[in-house]
Amino acid sequence: MRLYRAKDYNDMSRKAAHIISAQVTMKPDCVLGLATGSTPIGTYKQLIEWYNNGDLDFAEVKTANLDEYKGLTRDNDQSYYYFMHENLFKHVNIKEENTNIPDGTEPDAAKECARYEKVVHELGGVDLQLLGLGHNGHIGFNEPADEYPKETHIVDLQESTIEANKRFFASIDDVPRQAYTMGIGTIMSAKKILLVVSGEDKAAILREVICGPVTPRVPASILQLHPDVTIVADDAALAKLG
Ligand code: F6R
Repeated sequence: MRLYRAKDYNDMSRKAAHIISAQVTMKPDCVLGLATGSTPIGTYKQLIEWYNNGDLDFAEVKTANLDEYKGLTRDNDQSYYYFMHENLFKHVNIKEENTNIPDGTEPDAAKECARYEKVVHELGGVDLQLLGLGHNGHIGFNEPADEYPKETHIVDLQESTIEANKRFFASIDDVPRQAYTMGIGTIMSAKKILLVVSGEDKAAILREVICGPVTPRVPASILQLHPDVTIVADDAALAKLG
């Protein structure tokens, strides 16, 4: 694991964007695995700025997002489809047909999960997977469990995740209870992984992820076993690591 210390959220965002930018520059037709949530927003902003300056070109880039709420339509402003278009895709020259997100409107979970797993496989795998970190150690929507789910699957979201996400919905009853997510196996098969972490509320879980035992009770701890993981975390998130 490579660990880059950033002084604050903006510094973390810039450092993470440098890594994604290097990937796109070195391999213009690369496959980026993308995440939603609040942590990567600054990273996407920085990429958009460099695109606008003419320093980055997404014409050949392909993407595969980690997850999507089940039941939300694309035009729902809380869907991850909507998020990705608002926060990145509509601002750069990525081709719509080169972007992939699980289809939350497909009611047949087995069908959608098999389709999405095949999509990732047919892309030739993910070159660089961007991840955020849940307070309970989740990556994608892989919640703490007794074993690691391998492939794309449907999950029942934990109360803590529903609670954390309710800020984005009119009321807690509007927060979807299920999601489609890449499995731990799908994530671990990415060639490179970039984990971005910000804020003191992530400090305790980040310490467990890096220093604790590898256990499905802390899903992100499995990253210790991946051969090419870079963590970019700010001082606040690193506060419990000394
Ligand atoms: C988002 C995702 C989630 C988030 C995690 C952290 O696609 O897969 O695992 O990365 O919940 O979210 P934030 O960044 O909002 O703290």
